[in-house]
Amino acid sequence: MSDTVQRPAAPSTANCTPEQYDALYERSVQDPDGFWLEQAKERLDWYTAPTKGAEWSYDPVDIKWFSDGTLNICYNAVDRHLDTHGDQIALIFEPDSPDAPGRSLTYRQLHKEVTRVANALKAMGVRKGDRVTLYMPMIVEGALTMLACARIGAIHSVVFGGFSPEALAGRIMACESRFVVCADQGLRGSKTVPLKANVDAALAMQGVSVDGVLVFDHTGGEIEMVDGRDHWFADFASDDECPCEEMNAEDPLFILYTSGSTGTPKGVLHTTGGYALWAATTFHYTFDYQPGDIFWCSADIGWVTGHTYVTYGPLINAGTSLIFEGVPNYPDHGRFWDVIDKHKVNLFYTAPTAIRALMREGDSFVTSRNLSSLRVLGTVGEPINPEAWRWYYEVVGKKNCPIVDTWWQTETGGHMITTLPYAHDMKPGSAGKPFFGIQPLLVDNDGNTLEGATEGNLCITHSWPGQARTVYGDHDRFEQAYFSTYPGRYFTGDGCRRDEDGYYWITGRVDDVINVSGHRMGTAEVESALVLHPKVAEAAVVGYPHDIKGQGIYCYVTLNAGEEGSDELYSELRQHVRKEIGPIATPDHLQFTDGLPKTRSGKIMRRILRKIAENDYGSLGDTSTLADPSLVDRLIEGRQNR
Ligand code: WT7
Repeated sequence: MSDTVQRPAAPSTANCTPEQYDALYERSVQDPDGFWLEQAKERLDWYTAPTKGAEWSYDPVDIKWFSDGTLNICYNAVDRHLDTHGDQIALIFEPDSPDAPGRSLTYRQLHKEVTRVANALKAMGVRKGDRVTLYMPMIVEGALTMLACARIGAIHSVVFGGFSPEALAGRIMACESRFVVCADQGLRGSKTVPLKANVDAALAMQGVSVDGVLVFDHTGGEIEMVDGRDHWFADFASDDECPCEEMNAEDPLFILYTSGSTGTPKGVLHTTGGYALWAATTFHYTFDYQPGDIFWCSADIGWVTGHTYVTYGPLINAGTSLIFEGVPNYPDHGRFWDVIDKHKVNLFYTAPTAIRALMREGDSFVTSRNLSSLRVLGTVGEPINPEAWRWYYEVVGKKNCPIVDTWWQTETGGHMITTLPYAHDMKPGSAGKPFFGIQPLLVDNDGNTLEGATEGNLCITHSWPGQARTVYGDHDRFEQAYFSTYPGRYFTGDGCRRDEDGYYWITGRVDDVINVSGHRMGTAEVESALVLHPKVAEAAVVGYPHDIKGQGIYCYVTLNAGEEGSDELYSELRQHVRKEIGPIATPDHLQFTDGLPKTRSGKIMRRILRKIAENDYGSLGDTSTLADPSLVDRLIEGRQNR
């Protein structure tokens, strides 16, 4: 039996008690349209309020929510708060160096700045429906630009600033984006990130061309500006009024590229109304947000977590969101805790990988800080091991802060399974209970429904407002990737156990996606990068357990005839992948091999490669169908000699 950690007694202000959860959840699944239309009116301002709830089908796939409603998400996140919260802080900026000047913006200042960015985008030629690629450091201007795009009806596509020029170019081309917004440079742990130079490199690649690049002056570092193409924000900004575009609830809001089990990253598309509602509702309940709370989500805006819980969720709720440019270990391993003390953060949201890395440095970095402002702690991105959970709960939260382990995905828009701070007891390692409207379903490999306490593949049945609507420009791929494995269901790609109390325990991906430090990586992407190297013939990439990262990247590589595996080639290939995709994709281990285990029909048996990478040779299963069964011994030998 697993341990249960009791929830704190609900304060009178609690957004959700156990009784309320039960009643609201019941209502949300019995009458989803009634429930969500009510929430939509309560939490959002509409030009035309919707009368339609969900219109959805998973076969063929066609998903709409609130399709006769119109709104603007920037209006909901900014303008509507001016009368009531004009002087309240909306965004706090904590720079990379604790000695550098920070910044904070009231809602009134936020409104002014968003307007200036929106006007600059317009001056560059951006119009409703255009795709705008953002390649930004974690500075206020990232959130401002997202909101500015939304304000004028442009679709933002944020590319994580740690991706390579190659990866950036691919994402610019894939959505035919004609505009890029970047900063001159970013700062991370005192190192500079050459964002503008990377944009230049991306735009120099074949087939990539844009009409305009808008550049924010952040570090003042040396960069090149191309005449006619590149514009300093300051030259284009204006204080003119810039009204919000009236958008249909189903108009696209953003594209976000994410890795899948096959091919290049998919441009997941979210639309306006349902996403706005999902961000607003989940933020309110999951973190038990109370007026005046300071909220800090440490994720980068390049990931969906940053979209929903740095920018949209907090601001739609008229909250205060902290944006941190730096890293957890600079200038020392207590930086997170310093930031929390400095800004009196109440609600903190981070990833298991960061918790594990900080835990390893010992308690003194935490115990030397005060941290008494903390009220709720959140985690996201990968399963959290109970040891790290305990440390977060006991050492960071002093057993006073409920932990919310939020399971969700880029495709889900926001939280899907999580305990709520005062409504549920916690079980370390379990995400907990479904959020309102979420109907999880566990199925076996043949798609048969599994009841009760069981383990299987995690699907979701009924649609929910925050659900992705399509893959930009490739609806077939959307259907194929999420709705074809188990027809009529949204398949998450995760394995999951449900216990006797109805708590869900995510066991990790069951497809060829690996989760490295909470970042999703397609093994196929790393393989494609490897085979681009002139000496590589074939590559197979699998995940293996890694103490800090959760999963590490393990690559089996065969070389072209005449090539020898060497230490030099080993580092060269790691560098090569890093350059092709970005530092987060750097292989942890490479193993040179004379072959890959294939069936007689030529299919690579990844199961065997996974087991060998895990150093688990006892359960390789049936290897008799391999074209060359003797290869297995050589692979094991290679693994052990590594
Ligand atoms: C995958 C989604 C959702 C924002 C960050 C990642 C894994 C995410 C949890 C959690 C166990 C988790 C799943 C999921 N995952 N949160 N709390 N417990 N696993 O978004 O890049 O779209 O990745 O991350 O495997 O499918 P993403």
